[in-house]
Amino acid sequence: MEQRIRALRAQMEERLSRIDSRESLAAFWQEFLGKKGSVADLMKGLGTVAREDRPAMGKVINEFKVMAEQRYQECSERIGQLEMAARNRREEIDITLPAKKREMGTLHPITIVKNEMINVFLGMGFEVFEGPEIEDDEHNFTRLNVPKDHPARDMQDTFYVSEDILLRTHTSPGQIRVMDMEKPPIKVLVPGRVFRSDSDATHSPMFHQMEGLVVDKGITLCDLQGMLDKFVKQIFDADVRTRLRPSYFPFTEPSVEVDVSCFECGGKGCGLCKHTGWIEVLGGGIVHQNVLRNCGIDPEVYSGFAFGIGIERIAMLKYGINNIGLLTENDLRFLKQFKD
Ligand code: DAH
Repeated sequence: MEQRIRALRAQMEERLSRIDSRESLAAFWQEFLGKKGSVADLMKGLGTVAREDRPAMGKVINEFKVMAEQRYQECSERIGQLEMAARNRREEIDITLPAKKREMGTLHPITIVKNEMINVFLGMGFEVFEGPEIEDDEHNFTRLNVPKDHPARDMQDTFYVSEDILLRTHTSPGQIRVMDMEKPPIKVLVPGRVFRSDSDATHSPMFHQMEGLVVDKGITLCDLQGMLDKFVKQIFDADVRTRLRPSYFPFTEPSVEVDVSCFECGGKGCGLCKHTGWIEVLGGGIVHQNVLRNCGIDPEVYSGFAFGIGIERIAMLKYGINNIGLLTENDLRFLKQFKD
């Protein structure tokens, strides 16, 4: 019997060296420690051993059993570790893999310039008001001192919705809406979309304007120039100067065109300023007394200035854009160049 146990030990070592999975481990248990396994077999065979040898033989069998159990346990732990390692390998996260890129959008150049303009005026105490894009004739023309038969209506090619309803041709109707709601002192900005039946390299049927209106006691043209001077210095360049030229708008008297000294050549003359040294940037003037009266404000007590700025024009000058169409084409190669 001892010989058999020795043979079984050798067999056990051989089996152990081959165990590489839960299945082969279970087979090992069956073979040596199971109900019909070698240990059980040896126990059965104990009956055939001489009585006086049985205790010693039993001890040997038991030692064999304990050893088999121990080896089984060790082997089970080894398999557990192998399984864990395999699982870790399977679930490994490669932290060196580049993350998915999230593209950040950028603000549209018109929005960037609009915000910049609003910021400058907010710093001077202006409030922002937005009026409707679909206006009536009264607000867009009549109450702005442009009566039905006035030749100034020819200045603007209007998209009519019906006889009295139209797409606003400028942000100036915002002036009327504000003066209907508030009494002086008034200091307001009206940014927004405007529409005209006009299209070429510098005109688009839809574009943006920013209206400014200040009404208080003792407002003069000097206030307008002083304020615009500060504005253009912040938008273009600290060295830029302004100049007023006489002009005509029905809703202002006197009316002016405002030029800035060319920020490209410093006023010497170049392609941008068409060799004049000056660039026209906006229109404005002293609010016409009729307009104040149309809004129930006494022109004997109050006066005001107003101005209208084309946002596309400012953006095109600022960024050197030569075709207004680029601003509405939505070509990402163009738009991505503008970062706030
Ligand atoms: N509304 C004018 C335009 O669209 C611009 C303008 C000129 C606005 C003079 C004003 C102003 O408020 O006083 O061409």
